[in-house]
Amino acid sequence: MSTDARTGPAPSPTGPLSTIDYSERIPNNVNLAGDRRLQRALEGWQPKFLDWWKQLGPALPTEDVYLRTAIAVGRDGWAHFDHVPMEEYRWGIFLAELDPDRTVAFGKHKGEPVWQEVPGEHRADLMRLIVVQGDTEPASVEQQRVLGSNAPSLYDLRNLFQVNVEEGRHLWAMVYLLHAYFGPEGRREADQLLKRNSGDLDSPRILGAFNEETTDWLQFFMFTHFTDRDGKYQLGTLKESAFDPLARTCKFMLKEEAHHMFVGTTGVQRTVERTAELMREHGTDDIFEHGGIPLAVIQKYLSFQFSVSMDLFGSEQSTNAGNYYSSGLKGRWMETRRKDDHVLLEAERSMNLVEDGRFVKKTVPMLSALNLDLRDEYVEDCSHGVRRWNQALEEAGLDGRLVLPHEGFNRAVGVYAKHHVSPQGEVLDEATWQARRSEWLPSDGDRAAVAELMVPEYEAGKFAGWIAPPQSGINEQPVEFDYVHLRDEGLA
Ligand SMILES: [Fe+2]
Ligand SMILES: [Fe+2]
Repeated sequence: MSTDARTGPAPSPTGPLSTIDYSERIPNNVNLAGDRRLQRALEGWQPKFLDWWKQLGPALPTEDVYLRTAIAVGRDGWAHFDHVPMEEYRWGIFLAELDPDRTVAFGKHKGEPVWQEVPGEHRADLMRLIVVQGDTEPASVEQQRVLGSNAPSLYDLRNLFQVNVEEGRHLWAMVYLLHAYFGPEGRREADQLLKRNSGDLDSPRILGAFNEETTDWLQFFMFTHFTDRDGKYQLGTLKESAFDPLARTCKFMLKEEAHHMFVGTTGVQRTVERTAELMREHGTDDIFEHGGIPLAVIQKYLSFQFSVSMDLFGSEQSTNAGNYYSSGLKGRWMETRRKDDHVLLEAERSMNLVEDGRFVKKTVPMLSALNLDLRDEYVEDCSHGVRRWNQALEEAGLDGRLVLPHEGFNRAVGVYAKHHVSPQGEVLDEATWQARRSEWLPSDGDRAAVAELMVPEYEAGKFAGWIAPPQSGINEQPVEFDYVHLRDEGLA
């Protein structure tokens, strides 16, 4: 007999409509029970997902974790919090509410009703967009697999696992679309999403930043601040899609994504706060020996993660991006709030590039530069976090500041890929770049010194010495709440 409340009906949502049915094997608000074929196909994929989770999901053995689970997709009260064994997390398929009057907001189909099915002519492109997005979701779980072994607190450990289960759910979201709308080919792609693995030499993840190792918690926080934020912007463009199931899926994913960035932004903030405290206490910048991470090293981590995340936006100029826009597959960030014709056939913009060792500006058709348009929005958003972190330094009475490096710094994709640019924006020759790169990017020595500080702190309410405690706990629980029960603890 099951006494587990999570397998019964969902708690009543306080928000509007679209309750998720938890009595089913795969929780969903898409009436999966009404489509037996699809339901069976997804139930066939579920064990493969669980195998993957066991093999490449969080490595630290836990009894249960204080997690939030979606219960309804309305604006309020969509989440339920409880201690849950992670492998029993109710991964499911949740789409934002259907808006029956929604029309295409941009491109050549502007004003027409949105599509509930995939138009044949856009099938390949849409599937590719979904596969690339889907590939990033399990990749980050793989990258973060071992971080549980040296979490700075139970609070942070819980946040890591929350991010991990939700990235798992985002994979479900993309797999649902592949299964529901792309036939046998979609099912094959869904299987491939579990077969490519982060950093695997033979079958790596599709995008570069998702094959980088997440070496330590500072990098995890930088990743969730900068790389999950790339996710936010990609989802923001897909949320505008004329293909309505994709739009609704991404709209709901964005709600979960907000927490991931919160984890990153506040994680870096707390690291900076502790650094500032140690700098004042000891009157020196070199605080490794006092158990903190020097500001200069935090800056290097920042510069690294920002630059690899910038690469995720692709080339500044892209015919594909323009075509996706014109055909309605992918919009711009905040498309409906833009004050222009939403077709962009006449529009132009300026972009930077390097010519003969100098920066020049050139005017290009807007439609060709939509990746750059999105990236600019992203950079602006990133800078808010940096401002926040600097406020902590200012409040501590310190002169040092963190900065976003120049857009051309350490780039492997786009117009800067063949050039070396310093964080301050000088074009450098190869020799200078090689001589100075360890001033700007984390060296092996920096990473080793940070790694040495990464000692686990699993006593409720305690924090490792390199990071300050948060202002408040999760879901109004106290900071010293027992957010995670480790496996050994449970047996005691
Ligand atoms: Fe995600
Ligand atoms: Fe995320």
